[in-house]
Amino acid sequence: MKTIIEPFRIKVVEPIRRTTRPQREDILRRADFNVFAVRAEDVLIDLLTDSGTGAMSSEQWAGVMRGDESYAGAKSWYVLERTVRGLTGFDRILPTHQGRASERILFELLGGAGKVVPSNAHFDTTRANVEHSGARAVDLPIPAARHPASRHPFKGDLDVAALLRLIAEVGPERIPVVMVTVTNNSGGGQPVSLENLRAVREVCTRHGLPLFLDACRFAENAYFIKLREPGQADRPVRDIVRDMFDLADGATISAKKDGLVNIGGLLLLRDPLLAQRANNLLILTEGYVTYGGLAGRDLEAMAQGFEEVVDEDYLEYRIRCVGYLGEKLLAAGIKIVEPPGGHAVYIDAAAFCPHIPPERFPGQAVVCGLYRHAGIRACEIGSVMFGQDGRRPAMELVRLAIPRRVYTQSHVDYVVEAAAEVFQDRQRLRPLEIIDAPPSLRHFTARFREL
Ligand code: F0G
Repeated sequence: MKTIIEPFRIKVVEPIRRTTRPQREDILRRADFNVFAVRAEDVLIDLLTDSGTGAMSSEQWAGVMRGDESYAGAKSWYVLERTVRGLTGFDRILPTHQGRASERILFELLGGAGKVVPSNAHFDTTRANVEHSGARAVDLPIPAARHPASRHPFKGDLDVAALLRLIAEVGPERIPVVMVTVTNNSGGGQPVSLENLRAVREVCTRHGLPLFLDACRFAENAYFIKLREPGQADRPVRDIVRDMFDLADGATISAKKDGLVNIGGLLLLRDPLLAQRANNLLILTEGYVTYGGLAGRDLEAMAQGFEEVVDEDYLEYRIRCVGYLGEKLLAAGIKIVEPPGGHAVYIDAAAFCPHIPPERFPGQAVVCGLYRHAGIRACEIGSVMFGQDGRRPAMELVRLAIPRRVYTQSHVDYVVEAAAEVFQDRQRLRPLEIIDAPPSLRHFTARFREL
């Protein structure tokens, strides 16, 4: 059979609400053209993020009922620990409330003034946590990653030659850790190959540097490896996942993505001394080491989510769903980052509205256009998110992130239709200017004015 179906049936439904165009016009204005300030009930199809927005399975909900809420040593903790150990091979596992809590602990320990932290591409919270510690965050994507139309199969790869140049330039003693984000979120949800991870590992070993994964979307990355990397097609995804983690000295994970839960995170470590110091920080702000700021029921749901996410029927459906959206947008003449990513399709906003220069936020104009026209909420990943302090991102993108197991094919068809109509009428998209913004992570709360 050619059609890849949703490998589940739906047991609970949640109504979504239509609004009129005048209502949306008013809502957008009152939100100062920042869709983070729009109420979710005023959104018809919410593609703001794939983080924490997925649907849990019946087994996960059953786990919620089993949750052991004991302060220390809860049964649910041991279920999670056993699952994560089995999947990743890591012995030292710290639960956190979400990915950025793991990042905050890690960079409080490893960061600091004068340090430099390279990555294929830091996500915004990772970059912010590195910089908050006083260190410098450096992105080293391969050159193909900067070209939306390049169909390189592993556009998430880290540029190994650039890493070597950085080590030679600043000295290994100033690099406390090398990060690799799988999949690369800021650069289009693109995967990293095993070959590249091995090459980075080799450089790290040679220079005595620890290698950490930002492993939020480890299962989607592993599935792309199975699909695209020579020699991997017949291997179980579980084994590929294990290979990826075996190459790392640690990992930060937001379980809100491939953990298939609405809240939760992990910090995985090998070094016992580092783990001890991390545990102390965990207790300081997150919670005791067997719950880390989560309820017992959250730990159960997370454990079950990590089992379900490596199911290959699920991954086939997941990757196909995003690929389908990407192909339909391309067919409508809309340029995207190719090939489509694992969790999202990224529209090339610079190509979408060439009449709006980067300093007038073409991505934000597309985001406003999609909401105004069809009640769809997307996320700018361009000069609003990464253009602070005179920085200029390589691409102006709009991310359509697909929540896991939430929307059906007709929802996706509606999104395609709406995007195509906005594209037909793209001359009407308006440039924006920022009225005010906080000093960092400005995309969350910046206020805009249409020009
Ligand atoms: N790393 C990556 C690659 C991410 O995509 C995210 C979150 C984080 C770290 C932080 O995790 O939100 O649990 O604290 N990404 C979300 C997104 C917010 O929309 O892409 P968190």
